[in-house]
Amino acid sequence: MLKNKKIILGITGSIAAYKAVYLARTLIKRGAEVQVVITPSGKEFITPVTLSSLTQKPVISEFFTANTGEWHSHVDLGLWADAMLIAPATASTIAKMANGVADNMLITTYLSARAPVFVAPAMDFDMYRHPSTRRNLELLRSYGNHIIEPAEGALASGLEGKGRMEEPEKIADELERFFSASKSFFGKKVMITAGPTYEKIDPVRFIGNYSSGKMGYAIATAFASRGAEVTLISGPVTLPTPAGVKRIDVESAKEMYKAATENFPDSDIAVMCAAVADFAPEQTNATKIKRGNADMMLKLIPNPDIAASLGQIKKPGQILAGFALESDNEEENARHKLEKKNLDFIVLNSLADKGACFGGDNNKITIISRTGEKTSYPMKSKSAVADDIITYISGIYGK
Ligand code: C5P
Repeated sequence: MLKNKKIILGITGSIAAYKAVYLARTLIKRGAEVQVVITPSGKEFITPVTLSSLTQKPVISEFFTANTGEWHSHVDLGLWADAMLIAPATASTIAKMANGVADNMLITTYLSARAPVFVAPAMDFDMYRHPSTRRNLELLRSYGNHIIEPAEGALASGLEGKGRMEEPEKIADELERFFSASKSFFGKKVMITAGPTYEKIDPVRFIGNYSSGKMGYAIATAFASRGAEVTLISGPVTLPTPAGVKRIDVESAKEMYKAATENFPDSDIAVMCAAVADFAPEQTNATKIKRGNADMMLKLIPNPDIAASLGQIKKPGQILAGFALESDNEEENARHKLEKKNLDFIVLNSLADKGACFGGDNNKITIISRTGEKTSYPMKSKSAVADDIITYISGIYGK
């Protein structure tokens, strides 16, 4: 799968740089052409001679070759590549990438690269979990870079925890997966709602629910990896933005309704995954409600039904899908919602299925079609469930 793929391997100053030798060899064995770009501190850990003899190419580190004065064009290099992989990526390099601090050849190449970028962090446990590193990785994700999460285990510092660079074979697998994923939704615009909504009672209190957003985010990730242009309208969640996805953050059902109705006319497919609050307080108190001894009444009024509103303006050719989470009369209720909201299909997940609930990593679904056909799937990870839903939609398109 990596045959003839041109890969820039960026190596930085981490003890894990020794693994980059195996990584270069693994990529080459799988058919890739590898050009190493190493930072000055990377050279303290691994010699360019080892890398150039492996890759059969001179290792690039400086803007100029010292003795010949030859200039290395980071722009040409950036355009040459089918992928750029920075492994190991130190906290310092990640920070420079996040902020565009172009003070070495690797960062200038990164800024010039149009190809997909993969980043395999390697650092000490405490550095990895520091808010600064978390924020920088989040920024890289928002640029569409793919983060290959470090593994857990013994670290060079003697500490145990997350921070070890992922193993070379697994990194190569990740690149292979990227190149092999069919781009069957290329050119399609997909809108997804995800997560809960918060309905404000006063400045510090709200009505919400336990939705984690994981299912919707998994669907967004799966669509993006198949080439779709994805807009993710997200309620308050703690999840990172999937690579290459445009995220619109909202809080209340009304805000979600506004974003969804604005984006829907331009979408080919909409998957309504959000757990939208059905009611909101009629009034939001401007100041914090004080404790008192009398009973308190909170008047709730219905929120707009986003899915149903989109169902009303749906044009021929647009696909609109919804979710149903039921505790009783599951199928009957789901079929009723499918009709009422004018959906093309509904994904039923049951509260009765243990382990397949809000916040979990797994889900067990049944898809009910417009014509009433039912397809049931076993319990799977939410990313595998997302794949099933996308395969189902491919079937609608006859792909
Ligand atoms: O009616 P119920 O809330 O059970 O319907 C669930 C489906 O409708 C989900 O797809 C959910 O995202 C969507 N929905 C919505 N707006 C609401 C309520 C639900 O889009 N106000």
